[in-house]
Amino acid sequence: MQIIRGKDELADALADLRSSGGTVALVPTMGALHAGHMALISEARRLARHVVASIFVNPTQFGPNEDLDRYPRRVASDSAMLEQEGCAILWAPDAATMYPDGVEATVRAGKLGEDLDGAARPGHFDGVATVVARLLDQVRPDVALFGEKDYQQLAVIRQLVRDLALPVEIVGVPTQRDADGLALSSRNIYLSGEERIAARALPRALGEAARAVSEGEPVAEALAKARETLARAGFAPIDYVELRDSETLGPAGFPARPARLLAAAYLGKTRLIDNLPVPLRKRS
Ligand code: PAF
Repeated sequence: MQIIRGKDELADALADLRSSGGTVALVPTMGALHAGHMALISEARRLARHVVASIFVNPTQFGPNEDLDRYPRRVASDSAMLEQEGCAILWAPDAATMYPDGVEATVRAGKLGEDLDGAARPGHFDGVATVVARLLDQVRPDVALFGEKDYQQLAVIRQLVRDLALPVEIVGVPTQRDADGLALSSRNIYLSGEERIAARALPRALGEAARAVSEGEPVAEALAKARETLARAGFAPIDYVELRDSETLGPAGFPARPARLLAAAYLGKTRLIDNLPVPLRKRS
């Protein structure tokens, strides 16, 4: 695997890959890789001949009081994992390479990026859209893969690609979970032992609410119970627990249309997010 930090070097390495034939997949990451990222890489290998992963802790998607400085950085162990998984190129630019003129021209995520996580983290999805547009332009992959754990991010990126008519297929990969249900996240390492145990309440609350809604319980009641479960486990504040349309993330039209339950809440200083599909009601 080649580890590349400069744009010219990247262009040369991509030209070499392309000349050997076959398609290219891109897996954008911010590093601190775990089994969730490895599932993206393995799906990328299934879909394309060559896999490029990127690691860039993107400053433009962090708010002023967020965890940019303490975000885990471990390029050595990350690159060993990527190499073992059969990645051809690790694209690891620094901020000056990604934003050579500072952050002048940006991409706005639009309405979709202002709701839910975007309301709690103003500007976050503009930062994501800006860096993803640059990564797609730098690598020009045939396919790019993102985890469903960041479900709103995936929707924002799909919209970006549609609006700009970018020639790339966006693929969402299901969330990977620990044995107790907690979604894998690079930020889970911030949790204390006690918080890690309490964190199980998040997938449990969503699972119970998803089941209740799919069995016909009024949505408001199911969501209120999920909030109670989270509050009892020590989550505070709870940014949102919402049922939304799976595709548009607008108001849910369940059960006529597929829906998604999404939640974000703090355990101590750590903000956790998760989401689950709501099974459509079985017709009897
Ligand atoms: O999901 C992430 O790790 C990041 O938001 C992404 C897509 C790599 C953009 O920085």
